[in-house]
Amino acid sequence: MNAIETHDLTRYYGTLCAVNRLTLSVDREIFALLGPNGSGKTTMVLMLTTLLLPTSGSATVSGHDIVRSGQQVRRTLSYVPQDMAVDIKLTGRENALLFARLYGVLNPKDRVDEVLAVMQLTGRADDLVRTYSGGMRRRLELAQALVHEPEVLFLDEPTLGLDVAARATIWEHITALKKDGMTIFITTHYMDEADRFCNRVGIITKGTLLALDAPSALKAHMGNDVITARIDGEFRDPAVDGVTLFSYANNEASYLAENGREALPLLADAFIKSGIRVRSLALREPTLDDVFLHTVGKSEEPVGFDQTKFRTMLRRRK
Ligand SMILES: Nc1ncnc2c1ncn2[C@@H]1O[C@H](COP(=O)(O)OP(=O)(O)OP(=O)(O)O)[C@@H](O)[C@H]1O
Ligand SMILES: [Mg+2]
Repeated sequence: MNAIETHDLTRYYGTLCAVNRLTLSVDREIFALLGPNGSGKTTMVLMLTTLLLPTSGSATVSGHDIVRSGQQVRRTLSYVPQDMAVDIKLTGRENALLFARLYGVLNPKDRVDEVLAVMQLTGRADDLVRTYSGGMRRRLELAQALVHEPEVLFLDEPTLGLDVAARATIWEHITALKKDGMTIFITTHYMDEADRFCNRVGIITKGTLLALDAPSALKAHMGNDVITARIDGEFRDPAVDGVTLFSYANNEASYLAENGREALPLLADAFIKSGIRVRSLALREPTLDDVFLHTVGKSEEPVGFDQTKFRTMLRRRK
């Protein structure tokens, strides 16, 4: 039995299909659901945490059906939404204790001491949350989520808005939880984090799962090298054989090349011949960002995907 199993899980809002027949298993790993705004990530998490009923299909968490056995499901999981309400007028300890009591945890005081220590908050446990940094608040939310020893942890955008050091600390904690055998399901817009810390990622667009694998496998599957060209002024694709444009945004064109080293001088030549001014031309291995843009871009091509808008969204969230 996998910690999370979904079969054709589907959710409509009126006539809008937010999650479309999603089939997935996640077990004792860090799994990230990636997708542009409005692609159905939160809807998916809400269904799995029993906060929203599916329209059709089925899913289990720790073997319990999310519709028929909601209470058992809720007992085995914890969910940290993007904007969690910690009470800033209470201390960290009081916040965690409130959670422990709500969950009916035995020995709430000891358990709270334990989770605060795990999240390295012991020294500040009796300070008002109002005085905590963003990173400390996020750690407190994680501490709260751990009071009842969940088997499965859902985290919506766990590091959004945190500085680099705070993000690294949160990831140390998440990785440690996974090592202890917990199943962690996150959503994120940070491709670098998904690449580095997640065992597998799923890419979802308009409710449909388009790719599902380990980041390294997804990058390898793209196969080819990536060539990026920073353009000065007007851009047109000079159309070179063996080189495919997959994204153009913010004056940067990204190409997939079967053989990057051979293609680079050909592309440079083609740019010169077409009178396109290039500031820099670089060859590199594909990143998860490339996989994402390639996957999402491909699916949206027929309806005119606005990559500029999408990139802006990604940048804004960084
Ligand atoms: N309560 C609702 N009523 C109607 N439509 C909704 C509702 N909640 C979400 N939607 C729609 O369902 C789709 C999926 O939304 P969802 O919030 O799951 O996306 P998301 O991937 O979490 O987006 P984001 O990255 O912005 O958080 C969107 O088109 C959204 O507008
Ligand atoms: Mg969301």
